[in-house]
Parts: sequence; C-alpha cells; structure tokens
Amino acid sequence: MLKQSNLTVNAAGHLAIGGADALDLAAQYGTPLYVLDEDMVRARMALFAAGMARWFPAGSRPLYASKALCCKALCAWAGEEGLGLDVVSAGELHTALAAGADPESLCFHGNAKTADAIRRAIDAGVGLIVADGTEELERIDRLARQAGVRQKVLLRVTPGIDPHTFKAVNTGVVDVKFGVPIPTGQALEAAKLALGLENAVLEGFHCHIGSQVFRSGPFRMEAEVMASFLDQVRRQTGYTARVLDLGGGFAVAYTPSDPQPDLEGMLRDTGRHLTELFTGMGYPAPAILMEPGRSIVADAGVTLYTVQNVKSVPGGSTYVALDGGMTDNPRYALYGAKYSAAVADRAAMPEDTAVTLAGCCCESGDLIGENIPLQAPRTGDTVAVFVTGAYNYSMASNYNRVPRPPIAAVRGGTGRLIVRRETVDDLIMYDL
Ligand code: LLP
Repeated sequence: MLKQSNLTVNAAGHLAIGGADALDLAAQYGTPLYVLDEDMVRARMALFAAGMARWFPAGSRPLYASKALCCKALCAWAGEEGLGLDVVSAGELHTALAAGADPESLCFHGNAKTADAIRRAIDAGVGLIVADGTEELERIDRLARQAGVRQKVLLRVTPGIDPHTFKAVNTGVVDVKFGVPIPTGQALEAAKLALGLENAVLEGFHCHIGSQVFRSGPFRMEAEVMASFLDQVRRQTGYTARVLDLGGGFAVAYTPSDPQPDLEGMLRDTGRHLTELFTGMGYPAPAILMEPGRSIVADAGVTLYTVQNVKSVPGGSTYVALDGGMTDNPRYALYGAKYSAAVADRAAMPEDTAVTLAGCCCESGDLIGENIPLQAPRTGDTVAVFVTGAYNYSMASNYNRVPRPPIAAVRGGTGRLIVRRETVDDLIMYDL
C-alpha cells in the first residue's frame, strides 16, 4: 500500500483515510466516491503559506490553482489558510466568489478569455488578470475603460525552460499556446505595449514551467530567467515590476516507486535564490506568487469503487470491473498516468494479484490502470485508488451519461459531503 501517514489499516483490517474507515464512508455515501482528507489539504495549504512568508521576498504568497480541484469548499479552505486563488474560467471565478473569496485575492488566467469572462472578472473586482498576449492586453484595457476602472494585470511570458532537463531550451518550449516568448524578443515588446496602456495597469509578469517538478532546480532556473528578463525590461523602459508570478508545478508521488518531493525544501531553496538574485541585481524584490494545485490536493484524495465483477483471461489479464472509471478519472486514458490501489476490505493483506482496473464505460480504453498489484479482489469489494485528489473531479465527465461521484471530506476522522452525488435527473436537466 502507498506509504502515507494518513493512510492506515484499522483494527478491523480496513483501510482508513485520515482516520475514517473507507468501508464506512462507502456505505454512508455510496460508490464511486471521492474522499478528500481535509486535514491534509489544509496542512499543505498552511505549509505553502508559511514557507512563502518565511523564505520569499516581502508580500509573497501562494495562490491555490483551483483547476486541480474546484468546488466551494476548497475555495473557502484556501482563503482560511491564507492562500489566494488562481481561477481560469468564468466557472472557477463564479465558484470562488460563491464561496466568499476576497475578489482582491483572485488571479484570473486563461489563454482565450472571452470578453464576457473578462468583463465578469473586472466587475467582480479581481485582484489580477493575467493577459496571455498583446491582443488580450488591449482587450482588457478597453473593457476596463468601459467599466471605468484601472485593472491590474500581469503579462504571461514563456521563459523557455524544460523543467525535466533543467535547461533553457529556447523555442522548443516557447512554441506553445500560452504566453509571449522571452527568447524571441516578443515578451519585451509586449511589456512596452503594456506600459503604454491606461486602464490595464501592468503589475508584473507571470510564467509557468510545467507539472511534476520534483526538485528546486527548475524553479531556480525559472527565477534566474525571469529576474534577468525583469532587469532587461527595467534597463530598456525604466519599469520596475511589483509582482512576479512563477506558476505552479510542485510534484506529487503517485506510486510507491515515485520519490517523495520535499516541498518545504523546494520552497526554501527557491525563495532564498530569488532573494539573492534580486539583491545581487540591485532590483527591489517583487512580491512572488506561486500557484500550487496538484501538490495541495492530489495525495489527500482517494477514490472508492465497488467491484462489479472479476474476469481472468487465460494467458492474459485479470480485469476488475469498477462502478466508475474514465468518467471520474480520465488520467490513465489521457496520459497513461500511473496509480496505486488497495482492496479497502483487506488492506493489510499481501498485494499478490496484478490486475487491470477497468471502468464501466463502453470503451476498451476506459481503464484506471494496468498491472496494479492488489489483494486478490472479489466482487463486492471496495477498491481504493490513491492520489486522486487532483485533476480527477475537475476533469470528470458524463460520458455514457454516468453521473459524477460526490466528494466526502474527512476532518478529525469524520466524513461529510462537500459535493453531492449527481443524479440521473441532473443529467437530463439541460435537455429541452
Ligand atoms: N498555474 C498555471 C498557469 C498552470 O497552467 C497550472 C497547471 C498550474 C498553475 C497548476 O499546476 P500544478 O501545481 O497543479 O502542477 N490535467 C493535467 C494537469 C494540467 C495542468 C495544467 N496547468 C493532469 O491531470 O496531470
């Protein structure tokens, strides 16, 4: 079983998540069920808030990237733990506002924002809008003028760093749909344009190097590229940035063979490096924002399923058919993402059977994973798939008209629903 302090086996031999018996949760709320360890999520949020307050320049703070898991409860917890929110659509913005988030703490992203979404963000009074390019800068400027406000913006740039080789690799990684490339000179030109706008007020710059960053090296390199870009902008225009948003990407261990990332160490190294860089340049250090998503929620999440049947193909695989699948977790089908799992009923028993966890959709690619070692699953067992807190609920679909599962949060060993189960009536709600 995955080694995590919040995953234990109780006296009955059942898996417990944050102290709550998985079989009790399944019995109470039904399956499939997303379970989220609220204590763990809050502790992770607090770790980022404390780490950035301690190691980063004054005014720095984390924004929870709500795309990882967005619902009102998560937005509220982020505010309570001292985090702002990164929202990327009118829907995420609406959720944050409905949860009572302070609009000033919101940062609105997206590479193709509609005028309607920008207007909503401006009207809501969001703290920052991240402009993805020059056209969007001008659009935000025009819409802010119409609204009679001066809207603070960041300009998203692409630094050209591959987080998995630690290299600045120029156009290879700037040929993406997001942001304005630094290496081509376009970012500098866009900054000059931004500085000429009246109603879009340039607060600074944003970048994001990618996901699953296990060490501070890529973040340090990102800091170096961005610091030298800020210096270049200052030399050419006299402008000093007040905010630098370095995006998200802190890694998570999905299986027992993945290393456990040292989040605190990564924050310390990155924060110290930033402080040294700006001091060395004689540049007043901007407030740093970072946008952790996965690292806040992924390993706090477990999905519980009920085994519907088990089939062994001689010379082939053992298929364990679940009552969920790619509709609640599309990450294996989409990315070949690796998961580990356990039979919650016999969690301490040896995982002696390699199985294919199959979903319930009419599609052979609907799998949660292959060659997953499990405690010889039987029909009726509860299977727990670990590390499903990020990009599962938020990427769930109604393919085959399968309703989305609810989310039960566990706090102090007790569960409560924070998102209810969709019903088949919900599914026909939009049909006219
Ligand atoms: N900030 C920006 C601008 C981003 O694009 C992302 C992720 C984040 C922050 C949060 O990154 P995190 O800390 O979660 O790595 N659906 C994919 C992940 C897509 C991530 C997109 N952007 C998956 O399931 O792995």
